[in-house]
Amino acid sequence: AQSERDLLYKIHEVANDFFQNFLWEVEEGRSIGLSYFKERELRDDIIKKFQLGYSPEKKNAFTEYALEKGYSKEILEKSGLSIFPENSPAGIDRFRERVIFPIHSFSGRVLGFGARILKNNVKTAKYLNSPETEIYHKSNVLYGLNQSKQAISRKNVCLLVEGYMDVISLHMSGIENVVASSGTSLTTEQIKLIKRLTENVTILFDGDNAGIKASFRSIDMLLTEGMNIRVMLFPDGDDPDSFARKHPQEYVEKFIENEAMDFIDFKAEILFKEIGDDPIKKAEAIRDIVKSVSFVQNALKREVYLKQVSTKFGLSEQSLFNELDVQKQITQ
Ligand code: UTP
Ligand code: MN
Ligand code: MN
Ligand code: MN
Ligand code: MN
Repeated sequence: AQSERDLLYKIHEVANDFFQNFLWEVEEGRSIGLSYFKERELRDDIIKKFQLGYSPEKKNAFTEYALEKGYSKEILEKSGLSIFPENSPAGIDRFRERVIFPIHSFSGRVLGFGARILKNNVKTAKYLNSPETEIYHKSNVLYGLNQSKQAISRKNVCLLVEGYMDVISLHMSGIENVVASSGTSLTTEQIKLIKRLTENVTILFDGDNAGIKASFRSIDMLLTEGMNIRVMLFPDGDDPDSFARKHPQEYVEKFIENEAMDFIDFKAEILFKEIGDDPIKKAEAIRDIVKSVSFVQNALKREVYLKQVSTKFGLSEQSLFNELDVQKQITQ
């Protein structure tokens, strides 16, 4: 007998085919969905590589299709793809009039979807994502890992970006060692997925406040898991997607190579930007950096980083080691 999990995998495959078929073969999909991707300058081969799709405007287009294929209301509801409110027994699709980004497991099974609205003005969320289901736990998944795993191993470094389009645009320009945390805070499980392939991560987040906050959190998580990290933010309003579309591959690669900093220089640059000469604020910023060092698991590496902080700020190693001990007691 088919287990419920098997059925959930199967229905996601069916939905993935449905959305892709709609994008390529149906007039509504071509004129709205495919045009949207063309406006964002995506090539056909990339749209196919990432199995992008389109969910039609009709309220229950997919639900109706799946019911006709014999899937039950119960499994449709459990998949997160349909809801069946009392007053709509024919069901309602979760994703309507959006472009679709299937989310794959490490081994390439479709676990869920992200879906983007076509215009930026509307009040509803820009991206709507699958809910947690029996097969989709968003904290255990990294977008793009399936398409990027070989390049990550080969280059022995994983680029970490925020969004679906960042992964796709970088692939399109030939940079294929990239995954997205999809706007949520990076988790231990996600880091362990990367660690199967490499211990080196370069964080490439948006240069806005949300990106800075997310990079600080991700730095501590990655250090805790023993990863080596470099960090950079994209300049004024760019994200990896917009940047990769403006510049050729070699330029993007060189730019990342030159601009990415180790976490100490990165945090120092951000934290010291608004401080001026205020000694109290300066001390707080240094404590913040030492706190990140306290997450480094390897004692030798910890000492090397602390010496770097000592040199950088002209502080005695002894006082930094004292501070490190305090921080370690707090964080453990
Ligand atoms: P961003 O707001 O940076 O979007 O969110 P983006 O990826 O640059 O989107 P485009 O270029 O406008 O299409 C980064 C990521 O956060 C998640 C998505 O995974 C998105 O790619 N997110 C964002 C959501 O899940 N829901 C939202 O409403 C917004
Ligand atoms: Mn589970
Ligand atoms: Mn952003
Ligand atoms: Mn972005
Ligand atoms: Mn973007």
